[in-house]
Amino acid sequence: MVIIYDSKTGNTEKMAKAIAEGASNHAEVEVKKIGEAFPLIIMADADGVIFGSPVYYADISNNMKDFLSHVETYINANKRKINNKPASVFGSYGYDGAWIMEERLKERIMGLGYKVSDNVLVMIDSDIKYNFDANSAKCKEFGRKFAESL
Ligand SMILES: Cc1cc2nc3c(=O)[nH]c(=O)nc-3n(C[C@H](O)[C@H](O)[C@H](O)COP(=O)(O)O)c2cc1C
Repeated sequence: MVIIYDSKTGNTEKMAKAIAEGASNHAEVEVKKIGEAFPLIIMADADGVIFGSPVYYADISNNMKDFLSHVETYINANKRKINNKPASVFGSYGYDGAWIMEERLKERIMGLGYKVSDNVLVMIDSDIKYNFDANSAKCKEFGRKFAESL
């Protein structure tokens, strides 16, 4: 499985790493931050993908939007179908709540052909910044469950 995330100030990144830790006993996990160089074929080859984005101005991040556009172009150009591969979403927010990010991210990845799980994980930034030792278990559990479902 692959975990793809964006993170500007490190909160969503902490989540991604803990999710990977929780999943790693049950699946082979690749973790990629948007902005690193990696071939998009890993998305087509993975048995499942988890996408993570912070909330920026009541939406998913621009990096995540751009990335998903590239995936769309790649899929269309290479005629690689995603064929209902399992996917899920996670992310962090600061004040408004993450529902809008959750909704937009789900909608975009469903449009790419993924089958999106109802089991998603969102966390408020203060729980990540100041109290992650106590809250990282939620991320590990989320990763474990997704990996076990593959
Ligand atoms: C420019 C900017 C815009 C933000 N917009 C929102 C927002 O609309 N709603 C919200 O709940 N949090 C918002 N936040 C808070 C971030 O979503 C939150 O701190 C998140 O954990 C950042 O993730 P990251 O550290 O992975 O980049 C914003 C933060 C910044 C810096």
